[in-house]
Amino acid sequence: MKITVIGTGYVGLVSGVCFSELGNEVICVDHIEAKIEMLNRGEVPIYEPGLQTLIANNRERGRLRFSTDLGASVKHAEVIIIAVGTPSLPNGQANLSFIEQAASEIGQAMNGYKIIVTKSTVPVGTNERIRDIIAQHSKEPFDIASVPEFLREGTAVSDTMNPDRIIIGTDSEVVRERLTELHRSLTSNIIVTDIRSAEMIKYASNAFLATKISFINEIANICEKVGADVTKVAYGMGFDQRIGASFLKAGIGYGGSCFPKDTQALIQIAGQMDYDFKLLKSVVEVNREQRFNVIRKLESLMGHLAGKTIGIWGLAFKPETDDVRDSPAFEIIAALTEMGAKVKAYDPIAAENFRRNCDVDSLIYCDTAREAAWQADALCVLTEWKEFQHIPLSEIESWLKSPYLIDGRNIYKEEQLANTQLVYYSVGRPGMN
Ligand code: UGA
Repeated sequence: MKITVIGTGYVGLVSGVCFSELGNEVICVDHIEAKIEMLNRGEVPIYEPGLQTLIANNRERGRLRFSTDLGASVKHAEVIIIAVGTPSLPNGQANLSFIEQAASEIGQAMNGYKIIVTKSTVPVGTNERIRDIIAQHSKEPFDIASVPEFLREGTAVSDTMNPDRIIIGTDSEVVRERLTELHRSLTSNIIVTDIRSAEMIKYASNAFLATKISFINEIANICEKVGADVTKVAYGMGFDQRIGASFLKAGIGYGGSCFPKDTQALIQIAGQMDYDFKLLKSVVEVNREQRFNVIRKLESLMGHLAGKTIGIWGLAFKPETDDVRDSPAFEIIAALTEMGAKVKAYDPIAAENFRRNCDVDSLIYCDTAREAAWQADALCVLTEWKEFQHIPLSEIESWLKSPYLIDGRNIYKEEQLANTQLVYYSVGRPGMN
């Protein structure tokens, strides 16, 4: 199939590359020239395991191209995938200006029947708006479909190639057939729904996963008080298939470009319909509070933090990505510096992105984990990078000035602590809080 993908962010780039890997002829379009030039040089603007190799292979086979020419790329394809960003507006609503712009440019370039697929996360009713905009600009026949994306950063390629399910929201029989054919080799779980339900499935899924995280974080907070171990509680809960074992890792709360944005957007969508989504509001509130437990634990160990040196390990919102959007590290570091602490931070790959987005000028960026921990009064682990898990705790102890280790991601086990004098606080584990 000839496919054009508009937007080369996480969703667009990974989807486009994976569709080319499946044998389709794909053009990925972006209006940011520098990004397209980079991709045409064989460089990848995001860190995503496996992506670079797939790009190289499929460009060599002639199945994958990158372009800034949206009009020509639309003309080339039978299926146009919209994968532009829908960032939050200040009130939490999704900003649809990139979507509307893409729809109008598609409309102006139409040259025959096309299927317009939206992969961006969009509020219910947006696909119908896309249909109206295209129809304002073109008399050519077309159908629309909502095919939400469920890939995770860091495992985006494998998530796309092995999805749990594909959701196709459409009101057209032709689209049902063509898109089922396009996705058939990926999974047998192809679910066809109406367009509005497909749009809602994406928001409901992300909101539910965020709810699981806030739920287990609150259970962790209670575990700390009653002397239970949240990792064992989550393990025991996870065997119940109705609950499921995943997304029950307690920590400092969720970040990233999706959960914070999509939970806010769903609260807004509900609010516009005069529905107060109380549960989801609490999920968001619990998530915001959770990150500050790191600071409360530091204070309980050291009292005032003014003048103290705090080492931070991990700036990315999760491991295996250089993405720092809505990373809890921002607020933790800002609060520490406001309290007068000196903060030194290290991240294996996300430091540069963090520096570009962080307005704490006094933050010291370190080149190694050792440097960030060296002579610090305490060390806080904020991202569960494998690199940190492999550093022996005795070594960490020897680097620190005071033996305080706050593990915001529960990456160390009790037995690892055995031969150290470290005072170790983790999340929701007895004797370790
Ligand atoms: C999330 C969803 O998992 C994807 O299905 C969805 O496609 C994507 O949003 C999106 O809407 O585009 P992502 O944000 O890449 O993917 O990352 P996740 O692996 O879901 O992690 C999100 C956050 O939750 C991270 O900060 C992570 O540390 C945190 N988390 C996750 C926990 O604190 N505990 C857990 O048990 C799981």
